[in-house]
Amino acid sequence: MRVIVADHPLIAHKLTYLRARETDSPTFRRLAEELMTLLAYEATREVRVEPFDIVTPVAPTTGIKLANPKPLVVPILRAGLGMLEGMVRMLPSAEVGFLGMARNEETLEAVTYANRLPDDLSGRQCYVIDPMLATGGTLAMSIKYLVERGADDITAVTLLCAPEGIEALKQEIGDLHVPVTLVTGAVDERLNEHGYIVPGLGDAGDRLYG
Ligand code: PRP
Repeated sequence: MRVIVADHPLIAHKLTYLRARETDSPTFRRLAEELMTLLAYEATREVRVEPFDIVTPVAPTTGIKLANPKPLVVPILRAGLGMLEGMVRMLPSAEVGFLGMARNEETLEAVTYANRLPDDLSGRQCYVIDPMLATGGTLAMSIKYLVERGADDITAVTLLCAPEGIEALKQEIGDLHVPVTLVTGAVDERLNEHGYIVPGLGDAGDRLYG
């Protein structure tokens, strides 16, 4: 798995306000969307494209457009929904599928409670979006699920990660034989004994939706 930590002062600046405990929900939602839009620039660097002929007011030329099949964007409910708008603004022709997953806060294991994805993902590039990678269980399960359905190229986009979670995710998906890239706004210090990222931002779902 390739890991890209987006290193940009605007991302660091917006993450700082996102983390601060006094930031209210409307501001948190706006920042999560804006951060996703900035991370989309890195995450879509290898989005598949094809040539596209146009005529400018001056001359014909060949540009590019997104190739078919179009990429699939998969927000992990709930908190991933807070990043969706920021992603589809950049990729308006992408299809969107949904996975609902919640972490059992005692065992820290992820459980799937909703699934609205196309049955056949053969040959599809998929973008999984979720604000946090803590133990890595949620992303590992989502990525395996997409690969089982045929996805052949996966990029996960998170705002924050714990280093322990990145290592666990690498182990979990090591034998998948599908390229996986993780793009994140920051890698924090560690996970605490409750499975929270330190310093982190608290519970993203609660801060987005109460
Ligand atoms: C949070 C977060 C991730 C997951 C990360 O979701 O949005 O989906 O935990 O944890 P992990 O890496 O240890 O699996 P949560 O389960 O709190 O659900 P929510 O989005 O509905 O709040």
